[in-house]
Amino acid sequence: MELYGLPLLLLIIFASAQVGEAQVKSFLINCGSNSSITIDGRTWAGDVLPGNNVTISNHGVAAASAASVEEPKPVALYTTARIFNTTSSYNFSIAPGLYCVRLHFASFSFGNFNSNESLFDVVANNVKLVSRFNVPEEVVWKKEVSDWNSSYLVKEYFVDVNRSLLSIQLVPEDASFAYVNAIEVVPVMDELFVDSARNVDSGEVNVSFHLADRAIETMYRLNVGGPAVKPSRDSDLWRKWDSDENYMFSVNAANVITNSSNISYVSAKDSAAAPLLVYETAKATTNNQVVERRFNMSWRFSVDRNFDYLIRLHFCELTYDKPNQRVFKIYINNKTAAENYDVFVQGKGRNKAYHEDFLDTVPQQVDTLWLQLGPDSVASTSDADALLNGLEIFKLSRNGNLAHFLRRVDAGEGGAGAGKTKGRIVLVAIAGAVAIVAIILVIISGIVCFNIRKSRATGPKEDAPGWRPLFLHSITGTTTNARASKAYQANGSMATNRMGRVFTLSVIRSATNNFDESLIIGTGGFGKVFKGEIEGILVAIKRANPQSQQGLKEFETEIEILSKLRHRHLVSMIGYCEEQNEMILVYEYMANGTLRSHLFGSDLPPLTWRQRLEACIGAAKGLHYLHTGADRGIIHRDVKTTNILLDEAFIAKMADFGLSKDGPALDQTHVSTAVKGSFGYLDPEYFRRQQLTQKSDVYSFGVVLLEVVCARPVIDPTLPRDQVNLAEWALRWQRQQSLETIVDPKLEGAYPPESLKKIGDIAEKCLADEGKDRPAMGDVLWHLESLLQSLLQEAAQNGGAESFTSSKIECASCVSLHRIKEGEEEEEEEEEDALVAGEMDASSANANGH
Ligand SMILES: *[C@@H]1O[C@H](CO)[C@@H](O)[C@H](O)[C@H]1NC(C)=O
Ligand SMILES: *[C@@H]1O[C@H](CO)[C@@H](O)[C@H](O)[C@H]1NC(C)=O
Ligand SMILES: *[C@@H]1O[C@H](CO)[C@@H](O)[C@H](O)[C@H]1NC(C)=O
Ligand SMILES: *[C@@H]1O[C@H](CO)[C@@H](O)[C@H](O)[C@H]1NC(C)=O
Ligand SMILES: *[C@@H]1O[C@H](CO)[C@@H](O)[C@H](O)[C@H]1NC(C)=O
Ligand SMILES: *[C@@H]1O[C@H](CO)[C@@H](O)[C@H](O)[C@H]1NC(C)=O
Ligand SMILES: *[C@@H]1O[C@H](CO)[C@@H](O)[C@H](O)[C@H]1NC(C)=O
Ligand SMILES: *[C@@H]1O[C@H](CO)[C@@H](O)[C@H](O)[C@H]1NC(C)=O
Ligand SMILES: *[C@@H]1O[C@H](CO)[C@@H](O)[C@H](O)[C@H]1NC(C)=O
Ligand SMILES: *[C@@H]1O[C@H](CO)[C@@H](O)[C@H](O)[C@H]1NC(C)=O
Ligand SMILES: *[C@@H]1O[C@H](CO)[C@@H](O)[C@H](O)[C@H]1NC(C)=O
Ligand SMILES: *[C@@H]1O[C@H](CO)[C@@H](O)[C@H](O)[C@H]1NC(C)=O
Repeated sequence: MELYGLPLLLLIIFASAQVGEAQVKSFLINCGSNSSITIDGRTWAGDVLPGNNVTISNHGVAAASAASVEEPKPVALYTTARIFNTTSSYNFSIAPGLYCVRLHFASFSFGNFNSNESLFDVVANNVKLVSRFNVPEEVVWKKEVSDWNSSYLVKEYFVDVNRSLLSIQLVPEDASFAYVNAIEVVPVMDELFVDSARNVDSGEVNVSFHLADRAIETMYRLNVGGPAVKPSRDSDLWRKWDSDENYMFSVNAANVITNSSNISYVSAKDSAAAPLLVYETAKATTNNQVVERRFNMSWRFSVDRNFDYLIRLHFCELTYDKPNQRVFKIYINNKTAAENYDVFVQGKGRNKAYHEDFLDTVPQQVDTLWLQLGPDSVASTSDADALLNGLEIFKLSRNGNLAHFLRRVDAGEGGAGAGKTKGRIVLVAIAGAVAIVAIILVIISGIVCFNIRKSRATGPKEDAPGWRPLFLHSITGTTTNARASKAYQANGSMATNRMGRVFTLSVIRSATNNFDESLIIGTGGFGKVFKGEIEGILVAIKRANPQSQQGLKEFETEIEILSKLRHRHLVSMIGYCEEQNEMILVYEYMANGTLRSHLFGSDLPPLTWRQRLEACIGAAKGLHYLHTGADRGIIHRDVKTTNILLDEAFIAKMADFGLSKDGPALDQTHVSTAVKGSFGYLDPEYFRRQQLTQKSDVYSFGVVLLEVVCARPVIDPTLPRDQVNLAEWALRWQRQQSLETIVDPKLEGAYPPESLKKIGDIAEKCLADEGKDRPAMGDVLWHLESLLQSLLQEAAQNGGAESFTSSKIECASCVSLHRIKEGEEEEEEEEEDALVAGEMDASSANANGH
């Protein structure tokens, strides 16, 4: 009996433990609603749905959308909200423990309530989470953090609940109101936070940060080197990981590396910290082939002053299989946080995932947090190399407070008068309400929305020769398909939007005046390019020649490439038309045409030195992004001045991806392929060995640099034999250090001689006979940008005498077309302005490519 009794007892204990655990459950509350909705497999219960175990102290006003809730599923949650004009609380009966609390806020207007007028505190079990919170400003302020939509905001906290009640209190300011769209309360496994971190100031490796007494707010959570990770792809915790792209200070200091094979956690405890997906991608320091100079990879974050932060770095060595290959220093806020750091050693092997927590205090005077990884001069490795896979920044509460005062745009510093400028709100709820509008989206889609019907019924077109529409149809589908292209989401654009719009042939016909020959702005083997106008916006319309198999193939490639990648310096595709055997692509219109047309062979005024430099930088950014933006990188294969287009502000963009190829897989050095490209620009090594690498583009780019400086065709058969080929001819002068002899006479000496000399040096390196001796595009870019930087500094020092930099055309209206692409563009613009304003830091690679 006793022999059998013991296991039975164990079984009972085990079973009751299971029951105990089952009671620790998540609460998903859809505020302002009496029904449940299911999103991504999770059911959100209405806050007044009977039996949801949540009590609301006062029902306030339930705001509901009058609009029918259609497709955009994640947003259905945000069509209702509950509005309170007096202090109110949501009480959850709950088992004690650590919980992740997420508050969801969307912008809306409902009757007399407009979310931009809300002003309130939120307190969870005595911890103040936010103070004088005003949602729309927060949405704008944290725009870059917000995920697929910038019209709602999710604030995430970790709260230790020490009794069986979690009370979330909303406290509106006088004459204002509080609201919330949804509340998530998710239990957290103990392993997620361990009360031990490295103290950045003292250097101690195991300090307590008094976890038990503190609440935590998630400030940033990034999948470094990879795309955003949706909550549904994380564990039970449903965390969202953003791409790090917007926070990286010097994008070109880093390369993306990936390895998805056989990654495992160092210990089971690590599995709570992040999904393996986060560890599969990383950023590593760009190989610095041009100069000896070493630099840091740097990320910059705005944070709230006067708080302690827990900085969690996620690591996994993806490349090396022995120690001492990659040893680096970690700096947090410019202080050394760890030295001699070797991920292989720390993780005890390759493809071993773990994280490391650091504790640092951001003082009153500071509102930025810097993370930098850089070379360790004492380390024995020769390579300046560092690695980071993921990153989280958590704010720790002080005296039961996580709140900080937001500085209001219209109020003074201290915030004393803040909010008082608001008019009194008459709190009358009108029944038959106004829809909750995702204001931002509506505005954006209003701009973008061409009057086009979305083609749903385009079946396969077996009659189009050589054209396989399969790809198109798989991408235009729903977001789930986007998973297939997850690697390309890094640039933040919405997957659903990736293919652009589907145009009907009649729209295209009316846009081009029925393919009026007088509107042709370019021709080629593929077909013709027309200038057109759709809904008042100028576009370039490329129509395939149905006779050309090659043309169709190139179109297909172009669509494939452009749908994967979006970038300020790649010409963007607005949409396509695939009807009646036609294959037509619609692009943004580039008002200033090809770079070549501004160099020679036309009556256009010559470009200034600065414009030339900027055009090269733009093209280099586009190429660098192509080379590094996707997991294998993409090789353009036809870099030349006719494929570099200039918009109305003379911003250069790479165009024509018809010949482009995916870069070599990680374990290969090259792609074997038939030689294609344009004579005069063609990489001799590629020509000899038919092995294509990114370095072939670098070669062609070197030729472009020379063409820009000398302003003559790359092949000119009318010239004496030794001058026919620009690359050979110019290189001879360059090697004699006398490139100025053949510089474009139209420049009339208006260029700094050292700038010309440096361009010559860069071009010479690009034109190295063997690919391995050529710099990477990122390095080329870096050097061009520092040239521009010194040009601008010089101009600034010489006061108004901007002989080299004048006539840069600033253009506000050019934004309108960028908007079509994605909201992100404007942020980029800002960053670039900051750079021009001289924020460039000499210690790091500053090419702000993105
Ligand atoms: C839920 O709310 C709607 C609108 O306020 C109302 O018409 C409906 O009767 C309610 N349903 C229940 C079950 O209370
Ligand atoms: C509410 O709590 C009770 C008791 O813990 C539980 O049986 C019930 O399933 C809960 N209801 C919901 C909707 O979670
Ligand atoms: C919710 O909890 C708070 C704090 O314990 C309490 O003051 C309030 O009365 C509770 N409200 C309801 C409706 O249970
Ligand atoms: C939010 O993003 C989803 C895709 O993730 C999209 O379908 C929806 O329209 C967007 N809604 C808003 C309000 O931006
Ligand atoms: C709050 O709103 C309710 C209606 O939901 C209204 O009756 C009440 O007067 C309002 N209170 C204040 C202080 O405005
Ligand atoms: C809030 O938005 C409404 C409508 O867009 C506008 O009329 C009002 O002035 C805004 N209020 C504030 C404080 O920004
Ligand atoms: C729970 O924690 C709060 C503050 O952290 C403290 O004031 C309170 O006494 C604790 N309650 C219990 C039952 O331990
Ligand atoms: C850190 O210190 C605590 C006690 O202060 C100890 O229990 C723990 O094992 C230490 N952890 C490490 C990794 O040394
Ligand atoms: C991956 O792991 C599996 C099982 O652990 C092993 O059989 C395989 O050889 C590993 N592959 C690599 C490339 O290490
Ligand atoms: C990826 O990891 C596997 C071992 O799991 C290794 O065999 C392979 O070489 C790695 N790939 C790269 C590019 O480092
Ligand atoms: C990296 O950053 C740290 C901290 O800002 C700085 O001290 C160091 O000089 C930088 N290293 C390089 C090589 O720029
Ligand atoms: C920290 O380093 C960054 C980049 O190197 C620099 O811009 C910043 O001013 C430094 N901050 C301090 C406090 O030195």
